[in-house]
Amino acid sequence: MAQVFRNSVVLVIVVLFVRIDLSQQFQSSPTRTLLRIQKLLNFPAALSNWNDSTDFCNLEPDASVTVVCYEGNMTQLHIIGKKGALLLPRNFSMRVFVTTLVKLPDLKVLTLVSLGLWGSIPGKIAHLSSLEILNMSSNFLYGAIPQEISLLSGLRTLILDDNMLAGQLPDWFSVLPLLTVLSLKHNILNGSLPDSFSELENLRILSLSYNRFYGELPDLSTLTNLQVLELEGNGFGPQFPQLGNKLVTLKLSRNKFRSCIPAEVSSFYQLQRLDVSLNSLVGPLPSVLFSLPSLSYLNISGNKLTGMILDNISCNDELKVVDLSSNHLTGSLPKCLLADTRNRVVLYPRNCFVTGDQQQHPVSFCRNEALAVGIIPEEKKTYQSRNTFLAPSIVGGVVGVVILFGIVYLVVRRKNEKNMVKNPPTNLIVENPSAGYTSKLLSDSRYISQTMPFAPLGLSTYRVLSYEEIEDATNNFDSSAFMGEGSQGQMYRGQLKDGSLVAIRCLKMKRRSSIHNFTHHIDLISKLRHRHLVSALGHCFELYLEDSSVSRIFLVFEYVPNGTLRSWISERHTRHSRRSLAWTQRIAAAVGIAKGIQFLHMVAGVYSNNIKITDVLLDQNLVAKISSYNLPLMAESMAKVSRGVSSGGSKDSSDQERINQEAQADIYDFGAILLETIRGRSFKSKNEINAQREKLQEAISGDSVARKNVVDPAIQNECLDQSLKTMMEVCVRCLLKDPITRPSIEDVIWNLQFASQVQDTWCGEYRSSDGSPVSPSQPKLSIC
Ligand SMILES: *[C@@H]1O[C@H](CO)[C@@H](O)[C@H](O)[C@H]1NC(C)=O
Ligand SMILES: *[C@@H]1O[C@H](CO)[C@@H](O)[C@H](O)[C@H]1NC(C)=O
Ligand SMILES: *[C@@H]1O[C@H](CO)[C@@H](O)[C@H](O)[C@H]1NC(C)=O
Ligand SMILES: *[C@@H]1O[C@H](CO)[C@@H](O)[C@H](O)[C@H]1NC(C)=O
Ligand SMILES: *[C@@H]1O[C@H](CO)[C@@H](O)[C@H](O)[C@H]1NC(C)=O
Ligand SMILES: *[C@@H]1O[C@H](CO)[C@@H](O)[C@H](O)[C@H]1NC(C)=O
Ligand SMILES: *[C@@H]1O[C@H](CO)[C@@H](O)[C@H](O)[C@H]1NC(C)=O
Repeated sequence: MAQVFRNSVVLVIVVLFVRIDLSQQFQSSPTRTLLRIQKLLNFPAALSNWNDSTDFCNLEPDASVTVVCYEGNMTQLHIIGKKGALLLPRNFSMRVFVTTLVKLPDLKVLTLVSLGLWGSIPGKIAHLSSLEILNMSSNFLYGAIPQEISLLSGLRTLILDDNMLAGQLPDWFSVLPLLTVLSLKHNILNGSLPDSFSELENLRILSLSYNRFYGELPDLSTLTNLQVLELEGNGFGPQFPQLGNKLVTLKLSRNKFRSCIPAEVSSFYQLQRLDVSLNSLVGPLPSVLFSLPSLSYLNISGNKLTGMILDNISCNDELKVVDLSSNHLTGSLPKCLLADTRNRVVLYPRNCFVTGDQQQHPVSFCRNEALAVGIIPEEKKTYQSRNTFLAPSIVGGVVGVVILFGIVYLVVRRKNEKNMVKNPPTNLIVENPSAGYTSKLLSDSRYISQTMPFAPLGLSTYRVLSYEEIEDATNNFDSSAFMGEGSQGQMYRGQLKDGSLVAIRCLKMKRRSSIHNFTHHIDLISKLRHRHLVSALGHCFELYLEDSSVSRIFLVFEYVPNGTLRSWISERHTRHSRRSLAWTQRIAAAVGIAKGIQFLHMVAGVYSNNIKITDVLLDQNLVAKISSYNLPLMAESMAKVSRGVSSGGSKDSSDQERINQEAQADIYDFGAILLETIRGRSFKSKNEINAQREKLQEAISGDSVARKNVVDPAIQNECLDQSLKTMMEVCVRCLLKDPITRPSIEDVIWNLQFASQVQDTWCGEYRSSDGSPVSPSQPKLSIC
């Protein structure tokens, strides 16, 4: 009995001892640590009821303090002070504070908001190796974001908003494989966003608003999970970022974006908030924005967006706030926007709308402003996603991108005829054609055209024209010479003294810059001469008298009289007389376009030309000429050009890769033209084109009847099956989804020439039995 009693006493003592020991241990770490934190934070009101008998793991959570324990380990600590908390006293030390914090090594979630913390973030914070979420917003943290954070391999969320963090964004964020939320709003971080950001595959929220970032953004289209992108109040730009289509919120306001709103935006089917206000975006406002299925907030105010809005476009019911104010929009406000004003805020003052009661400018204001910034017209929008789209514009020495003069397009714009180029004010002088630099320029261009491995053009040599010549050619800018307004200015038809017909584009400079800033541009333009390009014949500068800066540039191009390729293929039943190209002529046109592209790529180093069938014009002999190509007039593009021209040996691989991609984009565009040429119909969307590609693919593997059935009925009986099949194969390959599987331009040309030869050999017999296909000139177009 006594034995038993003694044993139980021992047991009790042991139990007691164990209990005491355990609670001692707990006391020694988390509780003591928390009480020390309370002291270091200078006893904030939020922690007023903490004392040494507090059971922290079972504290009732409230809005300002939450502690979470999991099986005895403290895993979450949230302390949120009063908004606008003042700096902690001078004897506070961030280093001491963090040294204390890391005694809670199991913390996965740490929130320390509005506590007056000041100092730089010590690298030691990485000792909290389990950390997944860190929110230290609204303090006074300064200095750089410590590199040690990159050791927190479980980190998913990093929020350091409203501090005074400075320096550049480090490259190492990409080593945090799980990073989902990165928010650094309202700091004074600067520099540009490292390219490694395009590797943050898990990123869902990226908020960098109100810092001092600048420069181009890396390609963010690889961030397939990105839903929120907030970049307001920085200096990002000028290119609109490349983004994936899962975005829900996109805030780009108050930056330096100066490009167009890319067509890809129309695929952002989850987008709810779009704010691009207060940039200098140019180009047409894609009206598809109004009908994006999820959009509820659209703010494009304070840009230079142009274009005519039609009152019959449709809009999405969800759209609750629309702010279009301070742009250069014309036309009338969509009726659907005005229909339900109770639940919708619609602001549109300071545009040139004809309807509506909010204050508007006269239409001429918007048109002149649009000219001044050199918009890319609506026709340049593309159904194809692009890696690069070049900023347009003639803003202070940055001259625009695309020379476009599809006749159809110009005819459309003809309405605006009244606003003509006026005689130059008296304070203008005109560049003397003998100005120093030009002779070198001209000899260069002559050299180039002589050494080109292409047939001579029959064009006069490139030269500087005098202003009087321009005036004479256009009959003093007579309204009968006015062709329309294009992407970068007005366009006039004219005839030079030697009788040659020309098209003259007038580019008005917005900001003042000297002639020398244009030397390179003009130099390049003078070299872009080829049988299958609409080539420049010369130029003329008009200068301001007082400082010799450029006021206008006149670019003189050869005049191509026979309309667009489309008008000879798919439009022939509607608008124009029923003219149609025969099969051989279609092949010849295709070969011509391909050779034009080859020239742009191989000789001029000009890629991403976004060529469409309406950009291909036919001359009096039905020779195809590309009228719209990517004239790289910006400094940036000039670098590209010189790389393209120089020997390929020293290009680094990423450059080469970009060039390849851009080249492949041109191949795709060519495929789309070929498709229309074969089918005799136009296809608008990429999906349609894909479907057609599959259809062709089927026909290729079918029999000759299947192939006849897909070809334009107008030429069904003209084309030899082998020729048709080859054309269809080229077309399909050009339209392949994966760019690297598309053929090279040389490959394309070779195959097209094969198709042409097969057809030609056979054609002689065929032709004699059939009357004659519509063919105004030589039946067999020579393919140079
Ligand atoms: C800081 O100084 C104050 C007195 O000025 C003192 O009450 C407080 O305990 C000190 N805090 C620390 C962490 O030393
Ligand atoms: C500790 O705080 C609790 C309230 O949170 C209070 O009831 C208790 O009396 C305090 N203990 C001491 C020793 O101050
Ligand atoms: C609690 O913390 C200890 C030491 O940090 C660790 O070994 C243990 O796995 C943790 N327990 C849980 C449930 O996380
Ligand atoms: C950071 O924590 C504060 C306080 O809980 C909260 O208001 C804020 O939304 C958090 N930041 C983010 C980006 O979640
Ligand atoms: C970026 O910020 C750092 C720290 O404030 C500063 O030293 C540096 O000059 C800034 N750099 C630029 C380019 O503004
Ligand atoms: C649109 O953005 C501007 C500038 O960022 C802002 O001032 C304006 O309030 C916004 N409009 C609406 C309706 O929110
Ligand atoms: C809207 O009107 C224009 C001409 O005013 C017309 O060309 C276009 O087809 C119309 N669009 C719709 C969707 O009705």
